[in-house]
Amino acid sequence: MLSKHGVIERNSILLTVLILVVVAIGGLVEIAPLFYLESTIEKVKGMRPYAPLELAGRSIYIREGCYNCHSQMVRPLRDEVERYGPYSLAAESMYDHPFQWGSKRTGPDLARVGGRYSNEWHVAHMIDPRSVVPESIMPGYPFMAERDLKTSDIAAHLEANRAVGVPYDDDMIAAAENDLKAQADPENFDADALLERYPGAVVGDFDGDPSRVTELDAMIAYLQMLGTLVDFDVYRAEDNLR
Ligand code: HEC
Repeated sequence: MLSKHGVIERNSILLTVLILVVVAIGGLVEIAPLFYLESTIEKVKGMRPYAPLELAGRSIYIREGCYNCHSQMVRPLRDEVERYGPYSLAAESMYDHPFQWGSKRTGPDLARVGGRYSNEWHVAHMIDPRSVVPESIMPGYPFMAERDLKTSDIAAHLEANRAVGVPYDDDMIAAAENDLKAQADPENFDADALLERYPGAVVGDFDGDPSRVTELDAMIAYLQMLGTLVDFDVYRAEDNLR
């Protein structure tokens, strides 16, 4: 056995070929099972595709580059969990295309910001961060309160997300524009249908101006949803997540 090994060690081409074979076996063992799994993400109760208004807010979040200063991933480290809440699960970003984990925290992580502040706080903070956090270095985005949200292309946004795997059905796409308006204006649009399609969506006027749907409505609807879809009281008890 050992003497035969000497043959390999003296023949560099044979050695290279055999190394490739060994590495290929290792690679196959690691990679091949992934092709037979339906998903590498464990399903988690509560995750649903984003409601149209939330999705529009997410697009503004990306457009404005909020990810340059904010991450959206609580890491499984004690200090992070104590500050932000339960660490992020893979399933929580399964409908994000592209994901918003970020790599820079000039401001705090936003993965669990939903429900932490009132809509009024967000309005004041987005328009002028220093009005509520005097030492803040975040820029203000007052124009969002002025600009009407573009709603006519929302069905196309849902369709684009469906093309990359988000399970929006035909119903959701057909109703997208109505659902978007219903979330910000439940008085005049059918919010029950919206809630049936997107359980747990926060509805109501977000920006303090019920007469129209602005970019700020979408932005706050998105922020208020972040990190709230999975009920961690259930998961903490079942899986010992803290
Ligand atoms: C230049 C960096 C920077 C950019 C860009 C930025 N932020 Fe911030 N953000 C901060 C800092 C710093 C704080 C902490 C101070 C404060 O609350 O204002 C913060 C705080 C926040 C908070 C409160 C978080 C908490 O848990 O207290 C929210 C919500 C927020 N930002 C949303 C946004 C959104 C939405 C955008 C994009 C439209 C954005 N930020 C862009 C730096 C930034």
